Amino acid sequence: MLWGKNAQGKSNMLEGIYFFARGRSFRGAKEKEMIRFGDSQASISLDFVRDTDRYPTNLCVNIPSEGRKTLLRNGARLTGSKEMIGAFRAVLFCPAHLTLVSGGPALRRSFMDIALSQLYPAYLDSLSRYNKVLLQRNALIKKAQGVGKGAFDNYIWETYADQMATLGADVAARRLEYMSLLSASIEELFGEMTDGREKPSLSYRSSLLSEKDEDKGERAADKEKLYSALLSGIDREIHMGATLYGVHKDDILIKLNSKDARTYASQGQQRSLALSMKLAEGELSKRISGEYPVFLLDDVLSELDSDRRRFVLSNIADRQLIVTSCEPDIFRSLSGEARLLHTQNGKIVDIDGK
Ligand SMILES: Nc1ncnc2c1ncn2[C@@H]1O[C@H](COP(=O)(O)OP(=O)(O)O)[C@@H](O)[C@H]1O
Ligand SMILES: [Mg+2]
Repeated sequence: MLWGKNAQGKSNMLEGIYFFARGRSFRGAKEKEMIRFGDSQASISLDFVRDTDRYPTNLCVNIPSEGRKTLLRNGARLTGSKEMIGAFRAVLFCPAHLTLVSGGPALRRSFMDIALSQLYPAYLDSLSRYNKVLLQRNALIKKAQGVGKGAFDNYIWETYADQMATLGADVAARRLEYMSLLSASIEELFGEMTDGREKPSLSYRSSLLSEKDEDKGERAADKEKLYSALLSGIDREIHMGATLYGVHKDDILIKLNSKDARTYASQGQQRSLALSMKLAEGELSKRISGEYPVFLLDDVLSELDSDRRRFVLSNIADRQLIVTSCEPDIFRSLSGEARLLHTQNGKIVDIDGK
């Protein structure tokens, strides 16, 4: 556990570690903003040993104030974050995640994207290609405003629809599969916490299909459906100035006892559901990759009441856990092997055992 007063650099430390799992800062900072004020570059180096390996792996990043970052794995240059993501896996948990259920859909999409990117390199590839095509299509839509879609050859619209449908179907297929596994895992976790009284269910919500469509068994990952929706919606999209349908608009529908949790669940239930989602993310990562990820808990335990804190800790007690807090009390609730790293002014000044 990293312990210290506010603004001593605890979150900075987690930001550095998590960089290797995510390929960017979790604080929304731009790459260059990770450089210490006044310095000309930032460097982070991480050594870790996987359960399956005898020797440690080293990952290293150097971010200069001018020019591009360099990434190294065991000293060998990588072409970019895509090649690195998945080598070191982590589940980050910070106070913002407590609004995973009550907040907007972008949070939930990013939850799926971060989890899946660490597990499946092909997912990250499809997603980033999809996002590139989306940007191009949005630019075309903007150009067509005022002049109409007829100002551009039909072939161009068809090509965009085809690319987005192909890549979008790949993305949605993985998300659909992940959500059904996640839902089962959350049901189990939540059942433990509430003695089976409350039954959550999570499902993937496509922006192209209404709830009724999905009840009829229609698939959000259907390439043909995505394709025709993209072609038929163009006039409306030009009017609105952006691509309105596709996996970049999809969401997770979260229900508790068959009712929409966003509107009907209490704030406490919504927080418990959000905690379960994060715990289940760790469980699935283990199930799919064979190895538990590192859990990074930034200032989140002190936000929880004692029941929820116990719920979280009892589920991850025997995992590798890096916790930050300014409350020394939190340390007492951690396992006997925990170490307390006193953080001051950006440095670890003291290490205590229990
Ligand atoms: N690029 C930077 N260079 C130097 N200091 C920074 C930079 N970005 C943030 N800080 C400082 O780091 C401190 C925040 O550290 P943080 O890790 O959030 O603290 P903690 O989590 O311990 O409360 C603040 O004092 C902030 O001003
Ligand atoms: Mg902090």
